[in-house]
Amino acid sequence: EAAEKAGFEHFMMKEIHEQPKAVRDTLNSVVKDGRIDFKEMQISDEDLNKYEQIYIVACGSAWHVGMAAQYVLEDLTDIPVRVELASEFRYRKMPLNQKALVIVVSQSGETADTLAALRLAKEKKLATLAIVNVVGSSIAREADHVLYTLAGPEISVATTKAYSAQLAAMYCLAVQFARVREKITEEQYSFYISELLSIPEKMEKVLEDKERIQWFAAKYANAHDVFFVGRGIDYAISLEGSLKLKEISYIHSEAYAAGELKHGTISLIEQGMLVIGVLTQDELYEKTISNMLECKSRGAYLMGLTTYGHYEVEDQVNFAVYVPKVDEHFVGSLAVIPLQLLGYYVSVAKGLDVDKPRNLAKSVTVE
Ligand code: G6P
Repeated sequence: EAAEKAGFEHFMMKEIHEQPKAVRDTLNSVVKDGRIDFKEMQISDEDLNKYEQIYIVACGSAWHVGMAAQYVLEDLTDIPVRVELASEFRYRKMPLNQKALVIVVSQSGETADTLAALRLAKEKKLATLAIVNVVGSSIAREADHVLYTLAGPEISVATTKAYSAQLAAMYCLAVQFARVREKITEEQYSFYISELLSIPEKMEKVLEDKERIQWFAAKYANAHDVFFVGRGIDYAISLEGSLKLKEISYIHSEAYAAGELKHGTISLIEQGMLVIGVLTQDELYEKTISNMLECKSRGAYLMGLTTYGHYEVEDQVNFAVYVPKVDEHFVGSLAVIPLQLLGYYVSVAKGLDVDKPRNLAKSVTVE
């Protein structure tokens, strides 16, 4: 097992470091000569043109990928998107648009609820596309179209590299939908692809700063409650950051859409409580910061996660973390890494079983 960990103390840390490769391999499998090519998954431009609605259905972190992807898809294309938890979707009697594409997202390809949701969609005669990591898994076999993530085997129960590869696959779908449906120009298309291809190298850069997160994690290892806030894509990334922390450190944490704080959560803020704000979307920066400052004035300690250049954040938060700039649609891929590292280092500081947290399974094949 030590050999398999390639010098890392835990699989999770190894897999965190494998993210640039997982994303690079996934992108390279569909980007050919600077253009996205979906031939292998047998989906034509004609197909991409006909959908009127997208449903994204998944569980856990894969659902968080859907939450982030909906903002990207809706902003770049003209298609309305709904994101559903598979365990809800399968029992919900919702009217389904017959011209919809159902995208199921799953690392294992075996999650019982996601598989049942896929079967339901097929029964209703909707087109289905699976974003899956495990080749030949049930979901991969049953979906009409498969877009494989090339993250390689993931051992740690808490997903990192599969999540990142799924996000990259979603970006490719969004950019291709946008081109085929003529929502972006050829120049924009090339720009988005070059931005996508720049992600792996920028991920490496984020990983270089990990000691800073380790230092911070040691300080907060004894926290009882942590809140993550953000708006838009930053909210989606907060959901994943919060899950990473709680599942392996057993610290209660919640992700809140920043604007919702005043509708409940703010009553929980006490002296010294940690509030982590994700601030990568320029248009929403001021709004989220002002919500965070409301927490600070009630005693909260603030961590702000933003992009290079936003150095003014240091006047507002107690601890700032920066990630490189990339087109804002894709910056979640970078912002999630410090949050994964935070969860990891807190778990290690508490002496917990990082790779196998209590009560959880890597693949949930029962309801
Ligand atoms: C479990 C795992 C999560 C994962 C979820 C969905 O809860 O611990 O990391 O996100 O299942 O799994 P899937 O294989 O469908 O992506």
